[in-house]
Amino acid sequence: MAKKDSSTLKLAVIGLGMGRGHLGDYQDYERSEVVAVCDKDAQRLKERGEAAGIEPGCCYSDYRKLLRDAEKLGLDAVSVALPNALHAPVTVAAAKAGLHVLCEKPMATTARDARRMIRAADEAKKKLMINFSFRFTDQSQALRRLVDSGSVGEVYYGRTVWHRRRGLPGFGGWFGQKELAGGGPIIDLGVHRLDLALWLMGNPTPVTVSASTYGAIGPQLARKKRKKFDVEDLGCALVRFDNGATLIVEASWAGFSEKKEDMVTQLWGSEGGIIQRNIGEGYTFEALAYGESNGALWESRLQQPLEKSSSAYRAFVDAVLDDTPVPAPAEHGLQVQLILDAIYKSATQHREVKVPKPAGR
Ligand SMILES: NC(=O)c1ccc[n+]([C@@H]2O[C@H](COP(=O)([O-])OP(=O)(O)OC[C@H]3O[C@@H](n4cnc5c(N)ncnc54)[C@H](O)[C@@H]3O)[C@@H](O)[C@H]2O)c1
Repeated sequence: MAKKDSSTLKLAVIGLGMGRGHLGDYQDYERSEVVAVCDKDAQRLKERGEAAGIEPGCCYSDYRKLLRDAEKLGLDAVSVALPNALHAPVTVAAAKAGLHVLCEKPMATTARDARRMIRAADEAKKKLMINFSFRFTDQSQALRRLVDSGSVGEVYYGRTVWHRRRGLPGFGGWFGQKELAGGGPIIDLGVHRLDLALWLMGNPTPVTVSASTYGAIGPQLARKKRKKFDVEDLGCALVRFDNGATLIVEASWAGFSEKKEDMVTQLWGSEGGIIQRNIGEGYTFEALAYGESNGALWESRLQQPLEKSSSAYRAFVDAVLDDTPVPAPAEHGLQVQLILDAIYKSATQHREVKVPKPAGR
């Protein structure tokens, strides 16, 4: 059995696509150590395991075997970066094996599964965090501090968006299949911007959703290639909250839009407004704030925070080792999932639907 050292967190990363990013960040952090990896793709497992310096005996193709070996490996936690439909079964199994879990977004493909995950983690008394990585940018962190300071007042309206001009995933893969992904860009990209908006708004309770989804481009292209694609390529929703606030959510993988990549989360409050958006068409961000001061309306822009923000991975490691609350808790994942479920239900039924209460899990 591996020797336990309580000063570092020993992790396994399951799924080595996006999981490669998890792995790198854990390896760069002095408080965490990756002792095993898992991927069912033998070549990816070999290449990425070797590149990360993981011993061949600690590279697993079957997550069940990895979890059976948890004690032998001295594991404390796993990072789950698998296709969406596997988030729930793997998280539940990991919690039952006595492990803390950082699970990729979306938390699950249904709120029912998200509840199962929370139950399993609660029963095992283990932490469960969702990788809502957009919370961890310097810009998001600075804006959240601004909201917390009261300078935005009561947020009553928001718009949160991620549009891609042409960003359809490879046809035939899991991303375009409802059964494996749970949906299209709304659950893939929209989930990030939805969580960011909710978190900046202080996670008010959603009550109703009215949504539409479309497949104007993706399905036709997939048909030509004879590949399965049964999810939307654009979706939009209006979410109402119990405090009277309203949020517009939009996401697309394809459309005739001005920008190649367009992300923006804008909130309007009684005392001020905020914007978190990408710069140009890329993956760097800016934060803007609007308010009234000395008889004038002002705009201010974040230059830099005084302290660099932590990544989601490091924040997870710190929360487990220090036994503090995780900064993107599963309860927020469930709230997001309830809205996602309601978006797909509303779009299918062409009417406004109620969002169930998160309680009663
Ligand atoms: N937080 C972010 O910014 C971010 C970015 C990209 C992806 N993601 C999320 O990460 C997850 C994975 O996405 P991805 O882009 O890495 O997908 P991917 O298809 O590139 O990688 C998934 C990996 O899981 C492996 N896999 C599939 N089934 C498996 C099984 N049963 N056992 C072991 N391995 C298995 C595949 O072989 C593949 O290597 C998704 O939930 C996605 O939404 C999050």
